[in-house]
Amino acid sequence: KTSARVEKLLQSMTPAEKIGQLIQYFYFQLPPDGDDSTLPPGQIQAVEQALASGRAGSLLFVTDPATTNRLQREAIAGNPHGIPLLFGFDVIHGLRTIFPVPIAMAASWSPELIEQAQTVAAREARAVGIHWAFAPMLDIARDPRWGRIIEGAGEDPYLGAAVAAAQVRGFQGPHLGADEHIIAGPKHFAGYGAALGGRDYDEVDLSDQEFWNTYLPPFKAAIDAGAGNVMSAYMDLNGVPATGNRWLLHEVLREALGFEGFVVSDANSARDLETHHYAADLTDAGVKALTAGLDLEMAIHDPAYAHLDEALADGRVDLERIDTSVRRLLNAKEALGLLDNPFVDEQAAQTVLADPAHRDAAREAAESSAVLLRNEGGLLPLTVVPDGSNDVVRSIAVLGQMADSKRDTLGPWIFDYDLDETVTILDGIRSYANGLDTPVEVTYAPGAPSPIRLFPSMFDMWGDGSKTDENFDAQAELLRAVDAATAADVAVVVVGERQDMIGEGASRSSLDLPGEQLALLQAVVATGTPTVVVLMSGRPLDLRWAEENVPSILQVWYPGTRGGDAVANLLFGQAVPGGKLPFSWPRHVGQVPIHYAHTRSHDPVKQDRRYWDEESTPLYPFGHGLSYASFSYSNLTVSAASVGRDESLTVSVDVTNTSGHDGDEVAQLYLHQRYGTSSRPVRLLKGFRRLSLAAGQTERVEFTLGAEERRYWSAATRDWVLDATAFDVWVGGNSNADLHAEFSVTA
Ligand code: IFM
Repeated sequence: KTSARVEKLLQSMTPAEKIGQLIQYFYFQLPPDGDDSTLPPGQIQAVEQALASGRAGSLLFVTDPATTNRLQREAIAGNPHGIPLLFGFDVIHGLRTIFPVPIAMAASWSPELIEQAQTVAAREARAVGIHWAFAPMLDIARDPRWGRIIEGAGEDPYLGAAVAAAQVRGFQGPHLGADEHIIAGPKHFAGYGAALGGRDYDEVDLSDQEFWNTYLPPFKAAIDAGAGNVMSAYMDLNGVPATGNRWLLHEVLREALGFEGFVVSDANSARDLETHHYAADLTDAGVKALTAGLDLEMAIHDPAYAHLDEALADGRVDLERIDTSVRRLLNAKEALGLLDNPFVDEQAAQTVLADPAHRDAAREAAESSAVLLRNEGGLLPLTVVPDGSNDVVRSIAVLGQMADSKRDTLGPWIFDYDLDETVTILDGIRSYANGLDTPVEVTYAPGAPSPIRLFPSMFDMWGDGSKTDENFDAQAELLRAVDAATAADVAVVVVGERQDMIGEGASRSSLDLPGEQLALLQAVVATGTPTVVVLMSGRPLDLRWAEENVPSILQVWYPGTRGGDAVANLLFGQAVPGGKLPFSWPRHVGQVPIHYAHTRSHDPVKQDRRYWDEESTPLYPFGHGLSYASFSYSNLTVSAASVGRDESLTVSVDVTNTSGHDGDEVAQLYLHQRYGTSSRPVRLLKGFRRLSLAAGQTERVEFTLGAEERRYWSAATRDWVLDATAFDVWVGGNSNADLHAEFSVTA
C-alpha cells in the first residue's frame, strides 16, 4: 500500500534521517506570563535544533496556525528531503468550540451526534495545522475512582464500540486524508482503564476473557472504521509494559485486529520502559519499544529513539524494521497531502474557528447528552409560562460556585478554548429568564467555598486549584444562599467536581461531593423551596442523600462552550433530556467496581445481598435516564424461535411515547446466553437506537442479532466460540428492561 513516491523517498534517506522521522516532540506553548519551571531546561531550543538537523518527524501541542506554519518551514528547511512535520494534538472534545466531555457524548447514545461533533473538531483542528487527534480514548472504565473515566464511553464494550467508530468517522471523514479532516488516534492500547484501585497509571492485571470480550471491542471497531493511528499505553499489562509489549502491539494489534497505520507511544512511555525496570537503559528502551512494534516515540525530552543509531550500529535492531515504521509515517504524511501542501491559510483558520454553526452544534450536543436522573413530581421542566401543569415560577435562586464558573463549564482536556464566549449555567438561566415576556427574577449566590484538591493537578501549572480563597466568608455565604433560596420559588443548586478534579492524574479515593457542597444542598432543601440539583461531573458521585431528598436531579456533565444555554433550555423545557447513563451509578464508593454485565457466579439468590451494609445494586442502572415524556414498550417479537449458528434473526418492538411531550428515548436490547462453553454475563447490551417520538407516537424498532452479537472469547477453549444454546432477550429503556423474548441456536 506504499506509493512509489514514498518508497523512493525512503530509499534516498540515511539511517539517521529515518530515525529522525520516528521521533515526536512536545512543543509547549505556555501562556506568555506562565511559569515555565515545569519544562525541562532548553526544551524549546532542543526541539528547534532537532528540526534544523532533520531529527524530528512530528510535534505535538501547537495550536496556533502561524506557529504551525513557522515550525513547518523550519522542519522542511532542516530536512535534506524537505519532509514536513506531522502535528498531533489532544483534540478530545473540541478545539476552539468545546463540546461536552466524551463521557457526556457517550451518554447521548447517538453515534450521529458524536460523529458530527468530531467532524467539527476536525475542521477546526485541520484549519490551524493539526493533522491528527490523540483521540478517541477507548478505554473501558468500570472504576469511577479513575479520573480518566471522563474521557471514554463508560463501562460497556458494545456502546464503546459504537462510540469509537462514530468518532473515527467524524475525525477522518470518508477516507484517511479527506479535506477538513484529521487522523484519529484511538488510545491507550490496551487495558489502561483497568488500573489497579482506579489509580491512574497503576498496573493492570487483566484476564484474557476480560481483555478480548470487554476491553478490546472498542479498539476493534475503531480499526475497522479505518483509524490511521493507535497510541500505546503507559502501564504494565500483566507484567509487561504496554509500550514494550510485542504480544500486544504485534500479535493483537497487527495480526488479530489487522491494524495497518502507525503506533505512537504515550508521552515518554518508551523512555519509561527504563523506569518500569524493564529496559536496562534508554538505548535498550528504544530497542524494546521498536521490537515490540512501536513506530513513533512521543517524548518530552531525550527520546529513547534518539539512541537507535547506536543500536543499529551494534546490530540490536535492523534497518528493515526501522524502514517499516518510517514507511508508515510517510504513508500518513502522503495521505494527508502534506508532501505537496504542508501549510495552512492563517486567515481562513480564524474564519473556521469562529463559525457560529460550530457553537450551535455544541449547544445541541449538550442538550442531547444531559441525563435526567430523577424528576419526582415533574418539577422539571420549570413552568415559567402558565400552562396549568405546575405552579408558575417567578423567581429562581441559582446557587453553587460551579454555576458561575466558565472554566468548569468547559471541563478538562482542553487548551485552545475561549472563556469570553463561554456561557455558564448562570449566564444561560439569566439570559433565558430575561428573554421571557414576563421575565423571571434570578438571584445568585455561591453558597460554599470552591472545593480544593489535596494535591494540585498536573495541568495546574500555577497550583491555583489547591489554594483556598481566603476572602470567602463561608458562614455568611451559606446564609446568603439560604436567604436566596427562601425568597425564591425554585432553587437550582449546581454542584459537582471542579474540572481539575477529574481527568488524567485525577483519580479519587472517594465519590463524595467534594468540599461543603452537600451541606449547602442540605441547607437549601431545609428551606422547603422546591430544589433542582444540576450536577457537573465526569464520574458518578455519591447522590444517596439527594436521591432521597431532592425532587429533580439533572446530570449535565461539563457541557462546553454553549453549555449554559443548553442547561437553561433543558430546565425550561425548550429541550427535553434524552441522555442515558453509559455506566452503572454506584450508591457508594465501596461498591466499586459495579457493572451490569456481571456473571451470576455462585449463588443467584444472594446476588442482591452480597454486602451486609449496602445493596448490591447501583443507585441508577446502566442505561438509565428519564425524560419529560414517558415511554412504553410492547409487542416484542423475534423473527425465529430457532436459528442456525451462523444465522441472524430480527428482534422487533413497539416503542410508544405515552405522554403529551415530544421526547427522545433510547431503546436498548440486552442478550443473555443461558449455558455454554463459558458462563456468560446475566445480560449484555447488543443493540440500541435513539428515537425522537412525538407525543402519542409509536415506532416499531428492529434489531438484528447475528453471529457477531453472540460470539465471545472463552477461557475454556482459549479461543472465540459460538455456542448452540438458548438465549433470553430483553428490550427497554435501561439495563433493567423486563420485556422478554427467547430463542435458541442450533448446531
Ligand atoms: O494524549 C495524551 C495521553 O492521553 C496522556 N499522556 C499525554 C498524551 C499527549 O498529551
